Amino acid sequence: MPESFGLYGAPPADLADVPRDAIQFSPLMPGAAALDRQAAASLDAMTLLAPPGTIERRYALAQALRALKDGAPLTALAPNDRGGTRLRKELEAFGLDVNENSKRHHRIVTTTRAPGIGDIVAQVIEDGGPRFDDEIGLWTQPGVFSWDRLDPGTHMLIEHLPALSGRGADFGCGIGILARAVLASETVTDLALVDIDRRAIECAEHNLDTPRAKFIWADLRDPHPALTNLDFVVMNAPFHDAGQEDKGLAQAFVRRAAESLRKGGVCVMVANRHLPYEAVLKPLFKAVKPVIEQGGYKIYEARK
Ligand SMILES: C[S@@+](CC[C@H](N)C(=O)[O-])C[C@H]1O[C@@H](n2cnc3c(N)ncnc32)[C@H](O)[C@@H]1O
Repeated sequence: MPESFGLYGAPPADLADVPRDAIQFSPLMPGAAALDRQAAASLDAMTLLAPPGTIERRYALAQALRALKDGAPLTALAPNDRGGTRLRKELEAFGLDVNENSKRHHRIVTTTRAPGIGDIVAQVIEDGGPRFDDEIGLWTQPGVFSWDRLDPGTHMLIEHLPALSGRGADFGCGIGILARAVLASETVTDLALVDIDRRAIECAEHNLDTPRAKFIWADLRDPHPALTNLDFVVMNAPFHDAGQEDKGLAQAFVRRAAESLRKGGVCVMVANRHLPYEAVLKPLFKAVKPVIEQGGYKIYEARK
């Protein structure tokens, strides 16, 4: 196996042979290295489970090609219906010769990093990198949640935020849209912004230039020592994990909120109306109040 092997994501073990000491670069795995900060031409090989969004996927492929040495092998794979069928053309567009295989509803494309592709690689990196979006007035990046529009659930929660004060947290903060509205209140002394996506956390750091905001790149399914004795938690909880609906994820967020709040603290959350949150909230909180239901969303205030 090559000395310096890069890995992006968690490809099924039977589809890609990856050494145990491969360097993980997925922005969705807290603690992983950042591919965009990896030195150019430093990796001997790379395997990438390509992400589903087109701009995001082309960006990840370009960053992998930037980081690979000339002549180094690249394996990119994805489920057929989540970008797999496009991989071959996308890699050919960099001017590379590619081989394609199909297995278990995935396309597996292999190529080697060729010299002379630097300009196109740089262009694709430019197209998919972090940028200031004039319309939403924030730093954002293709691939992060709702990267180029205000999510309707977030909008509704911002419109119905109660008066908040003291130490709080925004669970699944994204690029910080909701957190910005929370921090508009001077009575909020500290806000921990937590997200599993490093790119979102880095955008949020740009977007919230205040010492009252603390940024935590973490998976909320795991406990975190900074999240205790809080006065409030706000959240627009995710209900997708790796593109699949996962009700358990939002339920894990609710449990984490209940554990993180002091007695009398409040959790304010927006949720999709059709998902069964009340059953999870009720045993964990003293009082659960549905605040408003509108356009497929529901806001709850739950007091510990
Ligand atoms: C519905 S979005 C809300 C984003 C932002 N608060 C807003 O309102 O625009 C949910 C966020 O949760 C994050 N997320 C998903 N799974 C997570 C996990 N296990 N731990 C922490 N954050 C997670 C996603 O990356 C996403 O940014």
